[in-house]
Amino acid sequence: MTDAPAPLRFGLLGAGRIAAKLAAAMSRTAGVTAAAIGSRDPARAAAFAARHGVPVAGSYEEVVASPDVDVVYLALPPHLHLEWGRRAAEAGKAVLCEKPLAPTAADAEALAAACRAAGVALIDGTQWTRSPRADAFWSALGGGELGELTRVTAAFSFHADGWEADEHRLDPTRGGGVLLDLGWYCVHAALWAFDADPVHVACSLTRETHAAGAVDVAASGLLTFPGGRTAGFDVSYRTAWRNWIEFAGPAGSLVCDDFTRPRDPAKVRHFRHDRRGDASRVELPGFDPQAEFLTRVAAAIRAGGDEEGLKLALRTQSVLDRLREAAG
Ligand SMILES: NC(=O)c1ccc[n+]([C@@H]2O[C@H](COP(=O)([O-])OP(=O)(O)OC[C@H]3O[C@@H](n4cnc5c(N)ncnc54)[C@H](OP(=O)(O)O)[C@@H]3O)[C@@H](O)[C@H]2O)c1
Repeated sequence: MTDAPAPLRFGLLGAGRIAAKLAAAMSRTAGVTAAAIGSRDPARAAAFAARHGVPVAGSYEEVVASPDVDVVYLALPPHLHLEWGRRAAEAGKAVLCEKPLAPTAADAEALAAACRAAGVALIDGTQWTRSPRADAFWSALGGGELGELTRVTAAFSFHADGWEADEHRLDPTRGGGVLLDLGWYCVHAALWAFDADPVHVACSLTRETHAAGAVDVAASGLLTFPGGRTAGFDVSYRTAWRNWIEFAGPAGSLVCDDFTRPRDPAKVRHFRHDRRGDASRVELPGFDPQAEFLTRVAAAIRAGGDEEGLKLALRTQSVLDRLREAAG
């Protein structure tokens, strides 16, 4: 019998919303631990540490330099991912970087290059593709249940009210905008499913002017893949909650209305429509999405990285650039 390895120690940067969720998930995930929290504000770091039982609270610099940290988790707005990811890599830490990797593909490539040069893993924060549900979808797609995949359609939206004036998602200078934020999931899913890059993209953006300038709050995109296969998506901060995806081929389709995270993790389900449209419900065993994600991230980091996942993330970032350019 071999001893279990010591838990992988995560240093979190930014005491915000997703950091709080993942810190809570780390406490219920074997093999990982939240070892340090970094904040711009020492009081915020201390409060976060107390709330989540994190032993060390400090500045970003202190967390990155800490000998008690193996992995730096960038829970920061996108415009800070390159700077802090590079610093973490130079300090010899693996990097778990929230999606999007960066505001632009050039910055995402620079982050990947910094991690490669330092010999550390870079993993993107897309959770759902690292889950038993994604495994089940992958088997269905690869097993020919739908015939050869011809179409992916995705929608991700929520009606954003109650955001503070300083919300980074409404700030183009901090990597804000719904195309990068929610469009990430739709484009990533389409590239994942087709395992190809689009030959053509089209995009329409709806913009609003906020304190820091014009920012996209709704986006619709069309990706055309080799062989005439297509993906379409719409994302919005101005429409009610929708979190749909459909994978379709000549023999039927697979439809899931909570694709990035099961609404009830104890009752994970999606729908299979046959070629005539008759639907059946498919139930999968329940799972803890964030714990599952962290378990897989830890395994990948221990194995030296997740090259396929990183390539997919970089391709996603490049297609998001193309979509923004196409929208004009
Ligand atoms: N994978 C997922 O499921 C998921 C879900 C939600 C968000 N995200 C991604 O996670 C990242 C963070 O999103 P979030 O919703 O957690 O944001 P958030 O609640 O605003 O937290 C971001 C934190 O970054 C720090 N920060 C440093 N400089 C900042 C600046 N100039 N403006 C604002 N914050 C700054 C702040 O922490 P301190 O003041 O403590 O330093 C802030 O609390 C984004 O890339 C987002 O797309 C991923």
